[in-house]
Amino acid sequence: MAQITSDAHTLVNMTYVSRANLDLSPKALGEILQQAQKNNTANGITGMLVFNNNYFLQTIEGPRAQINRLLYALILDQRHHDLQLLETRELKHREWSKWSMNQASLNEQNAAVYLKYSTTADFNPYLMSAESARGLMTELSVQRS
Ligand SMILES: Cc1cc2nc3c(=O)[nH]c(=O)nc-3n(C[C@H](O)[C@H](O)[C@H](O)COP(=O)(O)O)c2cc1C
Repeated sequence: MAQITSDAHTLVNMTYVSRANLDLSPKALGEILQQAQKNNTANGITGMLVFNNNYFLQTIEGPRAQINRLLYALILDQRHHDLQLLETRELKHREWSKWSMNQASLNEQNAAVYLKYSTTADFNPYLMSAESARGLMTELSVQRS
């Protein structure tokens, strides 16, 4: 039991990329976001989701046990596939504490922010390093706050 208790108090971050199944409609994206925000508020999870070109890039942070549980759910979720972890790490403090799930998409206005962190003009987070993905999400989030 002591182990479980201490797990719950370790903050971790997990960042992954995946591909949406079929062409994800704006409505379906809105439903994912709503579900994420509702669940995350209940589970003490915070984070950021980027969707573009049918790719997802998401970072989630919270108690280690909850983040692991969400990872199982995400892998089983039929709305996307080919989930690949970019990074998991322990945190001293949260980096997304203001958002149960923040969200951004790439557009003409922020294309230069993406190019700053990538080797390709078209969004493809599978080709990004964890550090670049982190930089991109942070800058996209600053633009929105
Ligand atoms: C790209 C993507 C991101 C998601 N992000 C979250 C999330 O941050 N938190 C969450 O609880 N569920 C998220 N989900 C949904 C989970 O995969 C899963 O459907 C949900 O956690 C199941 O819980 P529920 O049935 O109790 O709502 C996401 C799904 C997708 C496809």
